[in-house]
Amino acid sequence: METLIQSWDGESVISRFDRESGTWMFIAIHSTALGVATGGTRLKSYPTPRDALFDAMRLAEGMTYKWAGVEFPRGGGKAVLNISEVFDPSQREGLMSRYGQWLADLHAIFETGPDLGTTSSDMALIRRGFNGVFGCPLDFGGMGDPGPYTALGVFSGIRASCERRFNSLDMIGLSILVQGVGSVGKPLIHLLLEAGCEVKFSDLDSARIDKVRQELGLSFVEPEAVYGEPCDVFAPCATGGILNAKTIPQLKCSIVAGGANNQLEGSQDGEALHQRDILYAPDYIINAGGAIFLVSTESMGWDISKARDRIVEIGNTLKDIYAHAEKHGISSTEAAEELAKGRVKHAVLKKHTEN
Ligand code: PHE
Repeated sequence: METLIQSWDGESVISRFDRESGTWMFIAIHSTALGVATGGTRLKSYPTPRDALFDAMRLAEGMTYKWAGVEFPRGGGKAVLNISEVFDPSQREGLMSRYGQWLADLHAIFETGPDLGTTSSDMALIRRGFNGVFGCPLDFGGMGDPGPYTALGVFSGIRASCERRFNSLDMIGLSILVQGVGSVGKPLIHLLLEAGCEVKFSDLDSARIDKVRQELGLSFVEPEAVYGEPCDVFAPCATGGILNAKTIPQLKCSIVAGGANNQLEGSQDGEALHQRDILYAPDYIINAGGAIFLVSTESMGWDISKARDRIVEIGNTLKDIYAHAEKHGISSTEAAEELAKGRVKHAVLKKHTEN
């Protein structure tokens, strides 16, 4: 863990071991240049605490660029609750309450919301001790699950990417493979079907698989076969790191555009996609819809329709990034980084001159 922290360009990491449930809790604060560190809380069982910390750090960095990309006054942070393999669901309520209390003790250095593995009801439990929480259920004063809004932004991004690649706004008959049918993948599938796409899906959870098969009658792709499956658009909506030296050579798609965070294993993988002439929608740009929705409606006074309009704008942001990348002969990954990192740098410089 020493080398991990030493080699990170973020601001700080905070950790605590929750003895009662055997959970390692990590908060990674990547940058507060644009505002208070804000990001989801992920709950997952990792092979080692180091893996959990590493994930929190990478996700926190993604949040910095996500906020910079949408020009919201927020900084990049993320929390990971690394539950043990034998975590019992009955421990959940206690863990969430203690975690909320810890956040309060940290004097709101980090504000949070739902992420992979956590839901609106978890946010309500965290809120018992701490009110810097987004995405609580409606009857707790929150705006609920942001998943459908993340999906709306991803849909807008897929449409813009298809327009760019196929020169047509019409998505009828395009084949789209959605990896992961959770809180983002599922509503995304509905939007794609409404637009007339041919949708296939994959997931690891047998209950979810059966449900989507029965409810929507979609064809299922085995998890091992996902990367080599021919399709127009591959939409990763599950965990990160899935675009790497092993999977990229297998891809048989024209576009990668999905809702998962940290899709690239390393920054060289953005270049690898570019070399293969696969159009890649940078994750923190295309998946910002949920973050836009929660923060704008819960803390910036926007109504839902204004938030929706802003989320649909994600498609235009992507078009600008693609155009910039082409003009300068760089990958979309590099073009997005230039945009987001440029804004963070500008804020840091401004802070220095003000001091
Ligand atoms: N966890 C989601 C994301 O990665 C949404 C979210 C963002 C929730 C910020 C709360 C705060 O974008």
